[in-house]
Parts: sequence; C-alpha cells; structure tokens
Amino acid sequence: MQLIYELWNFQCNGNSAYIAIEINDDVGNVKGLHLSGKQSTNMKQENKIAIVTGANRGIGFEIARQLSENGFSVIVAARDKKKGNGAAEKIGGHFIQLDVSNEKSISDFADEVKKNFGKVDVLVNNAGMLEKMDSDILTAKSSLMNSTFATNAIGPVLLAQAIFPLMEKGGRIINISSGGGSMTDGVGGWSPIYCVSKSLLNSFTRHLAYFLKGKEISVNAVDPGWVRTDMGGKSAPRDVGEGADTAVWLATTEKTPTGKFFRDRKEIPF
Ligand SMILES: NC(=O)c1ccc[n+]([C@@H]2O[C@H](COP(=O)([O-])OP(=O)(O)OC[C@H]3O[C@@H](n4cnc5c(N)ncnc54)[C@H](OP(=O)(O)O)[C@@H]3O)[C@@H](O)[C@H]2O)c1
Repeated sequence: MQLIYELWNFQCNGNSAYIAIEINDDVGNVKGLHLSGKQSTNMKQENKIAIVTGANRGIGFEIARQLSENGFSVIVAARDKKKGNGAAEKIGGHFIQLDVSNEKSISDFADEVKKNFGKVDVLVNNAGMLEKMDSDILTAKSSLMNSTFATNAIGPVLLAQAIFPLMEKGGRIINISSGGGSMTDGVGGWSPIYCVSKSLLNSFTRHLAYFLKGKEISVNAVDPGWVRTDMGGKSAPRDVGEGADTAVWLATTEKTPTGKFFRDRKEIPF
C-alpha cells in the first residue's frame, strides 16, 4: 500500500506549527496525524523583504535559508533559472533572475522586485567569483581583472543604486567581503585579483554608507571566514552555517552601525 504524506505549516500565536498527515491513497483515509511545534526564531521579521544575490548555493543559499527561517520573504537572486528556482523552492523563497555583472540584468531585476514586492528591507550582496587562473598579479590579464571587479565590487554598488530607492523606511545593505580584502592584514599572495576586488568592495562599503546615512540605510561589509563551499574548497574549517552567521545577525539585530567591517559579529579594521 502506498502512502502519501502532506506537510502543512501554519502560524499560531507567534509560533510555527507543522502537521504531517499520512493518507492511504487507495481510499483517501487519513492513517496518521503528526503534530510538531517550533518557536519561530524571530517573528518580528515578518513582512520584511530580503534580497540575497548568488543565493542558489554556498554561503548565499545558507544566508537566504536562515533569513527565511527568521520570517523574511526572501528573494533568491541567481543567474541560472533552474538553480535559482530550485533553491527558492527549498527555502520557500521567490526566485528572480540576476547576473550581477550585467547592468541590464540589474535594472530588469530591480523593476521586477519593485513590481512584485514594492519595497526592500535588506540587500545581501553575496554573489562572488574567484578564478583558478588568479594566482599571480605579474601576469594577470585585464579580462580577469574586469570580470572579477565587475562581479565582486561594481555589481554590488550598481545593485545598491537600483535597490536603495525601494528602502523608503530605511534598510540594510550587507556586502559579503573577505579577509583577503583587508588593508590591515599582510598580503598572503593567494588570488591577488580577487583580494583587490574585495578591498574595492570594502572601500565602496564605506562610501555607500556615507551617502546613505541620511536615509537610515546602513551599509556594512562582512568577512565570513574560510568556508567549505565550491569557492572555499573541502579543507576550509568553517561550515556554511558559520559563514552565514554574521550576515544574518546584521540583517536581524535590533540596531546596526554603518560603514563597518565585521567578522564573527565583531567589528574588525578595514
Ligand atoms: N568560501 C569562502 O571561504 C569565502 C571566504 C571569504 C569570502 N567569501 C565570499 O562569500 C561569497 C559567497 O561565496 P561562496 O563560498 O558561497 O562561493 P560559491 O559557492 O562559489 O558561490 C558563489 C555564488 O555566486 C554566484 N555568482 C557568481 N557570479 C555571479 C554573477 N555574475 N551573477 C550572479 N551570481 C553570481 C554563483 O552563481 P552560479 O551558481 O550561477 O555560479 C554562486 O551562487 C562570495 O562573495 C565570496 O567571495 C567566501
């Protein structure tokens, strides 16, 4: 006999509850009922809209998943329709296509967000690239510099320009940077073009914060640490949960500063 399981999720007095119903599909009889309740971690985030770029995998997917769990309506921004839709389905989010290195894609994306959501509370600029050939600044091609800067630094600023008008009642912009972009730590010699792109993103963060201060929009950069993803590789010490933590904290904590760089929920020097 084949059984069908249905999972219903509903809100009750600020809590999330789930009912799993087990149905015998031959005659439609309900064979079992399983109830479980879960205290929602942060109900006050309800009616809030968050965009996460590069949310189809890695740290971006985990940030999107955690924000959704915290009550946000999450816009899964990804360049691949199939992967983006798949990720959105998994977390109960909404997919909208976005290639952060393409200006037309950014303006189409912002139009779509405005049409379907009308406002945005949080923008997480997470999408990023690191090419294997990025190993030596003495031989690095300008094409590598252009594509890396376009994706990791210029795209986030163009997206912020397109989205901040939808943050009418204030908002938060969170740029996923890297320790490699630090101007304080020494140069490690790895992926120099990527590291410079993150220094550029850090600098953009400070200037965006200055220009958006009067609009109650905070702009901060986050170093997620070395994380086990396609980019970070298998040897990285952190899992995606640890990598996502500081960005989710900045999106949900009561008050945020602006124009700062964070790692493990603590301010670090740029
Ligand atoms: N992993 C680490 O150890 C580490 C450390 C420090 C900082 N970071 C930063 O954390 C962020 C996420 O990294 P990750 O480790 O999760 O990397 P990942 O697993 O390689 O994922 C990168 C994500 O960015 C997306 N992406 C790349 N170019 C894009 C574009 N032009 N438009 C839209 N999406 C694009 C990818 O989409 P596709 O699937 O379509 O390629 C993918 O969803 C990045 O900004 C990275 O620099 C990572």
